[in-house]
Amino acid sequence: MTLPELSRAPLSGAGGPAPVAFFAVEYEPATGEVLLLEQRKLPGEVVYQRCKKPDEVAEAIRAMVVRGAPAIGIAAAYALVLLARQERGDAKAFLLANGVASRILGQTRPTAVNLAWAIARMGRRAADVAKLDPEARYEAMREEAEAIHLEDVAACRAMGALGAPDVPEGATILTHCNAGSLATGGYGTALGVIRAAHEQGKKIRVLADETRPYLQGARLTAWELHMDEIPVEVITDGMAAHFMQRGEVQWCVVGSDRIAANGDVANKIGTYGVAVLADAHDIPFTVAAPWSTIDLSTPDGAGIPIEERSRDEVARIGEARIVADGIHCRHPAFDVTPARLVHAIYTERGVFRPRDGETPRALLKKD
Ligand code: MRU
Repeated sequence: MTLPELSRAPLSGAGGPAPVAFFAVEYEPATGEVLLLEQRKLPGEVVYQRCKKPDEVAEAIRAMVVRGAPAIGIAAAYALVLLARQERGDAKAFLLANGVASRILGQTRPTAVNLAWAIARMGRRAADVAKLDPEARYEAMREEAEAIHLEDVAACRAMGALGAPDVPEGATILTHCNAGSLATGGYGTALGVIRAAHEQGKKIRVLADETRPYLQGARLTAWELHMDEIPVEVITDGMAAHFMQRGEVQWCVVGSDRIAANGDVANKIGTYGVAVLADAHDIPFTVAAPWSTIDLSTPDGAGIPIEERSRDEVARIGEARIVADGIHCRHPAFDVTPARLVHAIYTERGVFRPRDGETPRALLKKD
């Protein structure tokens, strides 16, 4: 695969010693552009969208050109770098413009807390450096966004190393949606654990739920794993129960868009069903997510905002209409898996086991 030319090595690690051949999001300092892999065209076409304005990044996040909680946080941080590059006014003008862009970016996808987290972190940096001259201001904002990106890649690797030993030798692992390199700064959360287990030489294979309605599992997860030569088969979402009943699934791992203080996990619609099925068949159901996904200010899953997306994403597959016009469709983009169904949550700070009554606060002591 030919990656777009960058003036430096991609921060995602793509094209380097890491097995991942592509990146979802990068900043190109030479031209002041955010490069986004157009995920809606995968796997058929590998094309990159080049954004020069914060609004273009916001629209790309809303339209799911870039998706996955950590990746959209990184994209939003880079959008605020674009703003800092363009805004030449005084401190007040800079902070005003940063605030307006932050609000627009923050409204694009409400469930993924990584987005709000990255925007807030960039906002704190903006306040610190507002009085500097525009060039120094831009450099400081760029360094902050790049730190967010690099920390996310490191977090994925750390949670991969932590989760891989729990993966049973010879396991068939079921995953839902895409929590891979495409959804993160690079390497992946759930797919990071799978990649790490594979790198350790474990003979594993993956069942990828196709993931209705947007087909992230079929189009993205299977594509990523196949390129890494990790055995993968795509199943429709309705097939998971069948394979579990036949003893053909030994482990489940998914990513998350927001984890409440009690360990309830919001993730792509359909995840809760997988967790219920796993519980019914005594299969460990696990989650991998960076600390930026943990929302200690939301006590439990009932407080997590669930994004409702358009009818057409359910009523159509690509250009094909599968529901007659005039018929309403429901489209909550996420659901909440109660903590009691979650065996383990792997983060870069360590693991906690919600099913055993542990909450993310157990890892706060490690600060
Ligand atoms: O709607 P999407 O494709 O952005 O949903 C993505 C997911 O649900 C992922 O599992 C989640 O963001 C974790 S990504 C590491």
